[in-house]
Amino acid sequence: MSRGKAKPSMPGASRLPVSIYKVGGPALEDPELLAPLADDVRRLGGYVALLHGGGRHIERLLHALAIPSRFVEGRRETSPEAMDVVEMVLSGGTNKALAGGLLAAGINAVGISGRDAGLLRARPIPALGRVGSEVSVQPELVLALWREGFVPVISPVSSGPVGEALNVNADEAALGVAAALFAERLVYLSDVDGVRVGDQVVERLSPAEAEALIADGTIAGGMAMKVRMALDAARRGVAEVVIAGKARLTGGFPGTRVLAQPGARALGAVGLEGRA
Ligand SMILES: Nc1ncnc2c1ncn2[C@@H]1O[C@H](COP(=O)(O)OP(=O)(O)OP(=O)(O)O)[C@@H](O)[C@H]1O
Ligand SMILES: [Mg+2]
Repeated sequence: MSRGKAKPSMPGASRLPVSIYKVGGPALEDPELLAPLADDVRRLGGYVALLHGGGRHIERLLHALAIPSRFVEGRRETSPEAMDVVEMVLSGGTNKALAGGLLAAGINAVGISGRDAGLLRARPIPALGRVGSEVSVQPELVLALWREGFVPVISPVSSGPVGEALNVNADEAALGVAAALFAERLVYLSDVDGVRVGDQVVERLSPAEAEALIADGTIAGGMAMKVRMALDAARRGVAEVVIAGKARLTGGFPGTRVLAQPGARALGAVGLEGRA
């Protein structure tokens, strides 16, 4: 079997495709998502891992517990008290709900966190408290689960330099996992069908188009972070990087393809209803 030198050892790695899904918190609130997601995981075959977010769940619990927190350039400033809540929500409720739901839908899912077996390590951003970035990935646990036929469901909570929990954006964690595992496909599943420009969802996005749309505020909030991570994934060699919604799983609009280079076609667009 021929393998690239840096490629982690896994059976059939040269033939079986690796696909990473990132499922956003808002998308997870849709009770109709799990069945088509499980079908898609089955259809893809190969090696599949899922990362998940959970921003809105965190927001609700922080609010209920009256723990203050604010956003700074798309990242949540995270005090130690807020970090307890972030970890409780992401590695607890959200992770177990997604893994449990997939299991009930026939997928052999195992819920783990980025802190397990040193899977995700990050560098703290001191000005933001317990926020981490620049994720490095030690993928052995994922490889071990794949070898035994399991589908890892990963919370993005990561370990800092002294083993402390760090709050890492799930879009960034998904990019790190996809790059480290030489994924061919990275699908960001959100609560929108793709990247919107006006009342259209675009089919493709080149780096220059993405930068311009972020700069003029058309792409904002969580989507700006997602598009940046998607661009980085495409540049780092993930062949198919897509930002999509549930429609992709149910035969509708397949999402916005994010390209490493300007595409053959500029900014193709379809209506929000999807392709004709
Ligand atoms: N141009 C745009 N196209 C589509 N969505 C956009 C755009 N600009 C801003 N958004 C917002 O980005 C949101 C998606 O990002 P958000 O971070 O909220 O979700 P997520 O990443 O899927 O979930 P989580 O952050 O929990 O992982 C959309 O719901 C939408 O409100
Ligand atoms: Mg987000």
